[in-house]
Amino acid sequence: MYVCSCFGITEAQVKKHAEDGACTPRQIASACKAGTDCGSCVRRIQALLGRGACPRRELADQGRPMLAEFPAGGPADLPEAA
Ligand code: FES
Repeated sequence: MYVCSCFGITEAQVKKHAEDGACTPRQIASACKAGTDCGSCVRRIQALLGRGACPRRELADQGRPMLAEFPAGGPADLPEAA
């Protein structure tokens, strides 16, 4: 079943992107453009992610890094943008 009819993105595709680490509608949009045209599917995508489509969500909820590790000490150790 289509979640995003503008780009022909199915529920299965959204779940696949979620499994690959996309945990927010914005990350889903980066992966497949879903939600970037009329936007009417964003709530549906959000609902899919909220229903456990994203296995890494638990890490996010615990405030732990999901996609990348920060250097020792956390994000504060990252160099300032010039
Ligand atoms: S239905 Fe997804 S952007 Fe329009």
